[in-house]
Amino acid sequence: MTADLRIAPIAPGRVPLIGHTLPLLRDRLAYVQRLRTYGPIVRLVIGPKKTITVINSFELLQEMLTRKSDHFNKGLLFDKLKIFGGDPLPVAEGKPHLQRRRLMQPALHREHVKGYIESMRATAEPSVSAWRDQEILHVCNEMQLMAQGVVMAALFSSNPERGPAQIILDSVDTVFKAALMHAMVPISTLERLPTRGNRRARAANAVLRKTIADIIADHRANPDAYDDLVSLLMTVQDGTGGNLSDEEITAEITALLAAGSETTAVTLAWLFHEIARNPELERRLHEEVDTVLAGDELAAEHIPQLAFTRRLIDETLRLHNPAWILTRRTISPVQLGQFNLPAGTDVMWSPYAMHRDPDLYPDPLRFDPDRWLPERPQPPRGAFIPFGVGKRMCIGDQFSLMEAVVITALIASRWRLRPVPGATVRPVPEITVHPSSLDMIAEPRRHAVAETAV
Ligand code: HEM
Repeated sequence: MTADLRIAPIAPGRVPLIGHTLPLLRDRLAYVQRLRTYGPIVRLVIGPKKTITVINSFELLQEMLTRKSDHFNKGLLFDKLKIFGGDPLPVAEGKPHLQRRRLMQPALHREHVKGYIESMRATAEPSVSAWRDQEILHVCNEMQLMAQGVVMAALFSSNPERGPAQIILDSVDTVFKAALMHAMVPISTLERLPTRGNRRARAANAVLRKTIADIIADHRANPDAYDDLVSLLMTVQDGTGGNLSDEEITAEITALLAAGSETTAVTLAWLFHEIARNPELERRLHEEVDTVLAGDELAAEHIPQLAFTRRLIDETLRLHNPAWILTRRTISPVQLGQFNLPAGTDVMWSPYAMHRDPDLYPDPLRFDPDRWLPERPQPPRGAFIPFGVGKRMCIGDQFSLMEAVVITALIASRWRLRPVPGATVRPVPEITVHPSSLDMIAEPRRHAVAETAV
């Protein structure tokens, strides 16, 4: 028996004219978690009449993202990311998406990614070496610079100095914040007004385009000097037999920078926040890294031995999943659970909320990397989806997992990051769920060892 979507429950707290906009703007994270208690499918109303269907059931989500994925496009959130122009992988649809994905996949395939380990370590190394004893680090920014540097070096053979790298980082951030705001308040005239926010977003977009134009120009001028994702994009034919235009390559590079930097960076920031609050976990991390590396520089053969490090990363991706909201829109009618979704239905789900569901994870708010030990009961298949599922699953999953292991081990082999006394750290849901601010004190490991010995 199927039913009309219009009889699906509407979440409590709707206010005339503005619907559920207020709780979404005010306390989005708590709200998306509360939504899970209203059933497998629940509806939200944004503004006077726009309705969003929230999928809470992991089984229905799996069905939507795999078997029934041809009935959906990427929807609201991703419409707004088209500001980059072109149709890069995260927003492309249909056949062009499939072709572009097939084209880029080899560069990010698990086996190929092993070849980036040395570049990842060498790119992150100068940042970590520049830290000073007792320096207060803005950990999110440090991680973002490292993650952005790793993507730029490995995939674009570009290695900007810290100053220009910071400008690129700030530009990506500005452009994305504007996109998120436009997705949450989808009134198109507001996007065109010459407000300060819109002007800043346009200026930031221009900085990004210039940076990328330089990378492309350099690759065109020295075609034999590079063997990376940019050269791959430059040599391939698109579906119609022509080469990709500079515009298309620019869009692809921007999208990779945006999709691949902040996500990994916030994961690393949360990981170091958690182990600073759990001395026993920190001790185990140090013990593993010291034993496995034994004073050597990290290399590919060390990675499989860093099992506890990897569990720390998985647990961070569970408890602090960067994606608090993802969207789709039906392009043709489809049945999901007991409801018929007509074409044009906006759909949303929250991996962040799902990963904290007590029905799926015992003691869900506890940061417990050992819950991933094979002998412990595992969550049901489809209930842990940090990188998504199906044909739109993250293409950079292996890259970012490898990078997270490399950077965690590199830092842990040399530094303890201590919390600044009295500082409170809150999760802030924007494009990713990032820490409100995360200042930590850098303490060299030898210093820590000497202290313990006294
Ligand atoms: C911890 C790190 C990361 C997380 C949690 C993450 C998460 C995700 C998720 C959930 C999706 C699917 C979105 C959806 O279904 O709507 C996605 C897509 C994507 N990610 Fe990642 N990602 C990470 C790192 C990266 C990296 C390092 C790269 C590139 C180097 C990357 C590139 C992409 C691209 C291009 C897509 C779009 C794929 C498509 O639509 O076919 N991501 N990511």
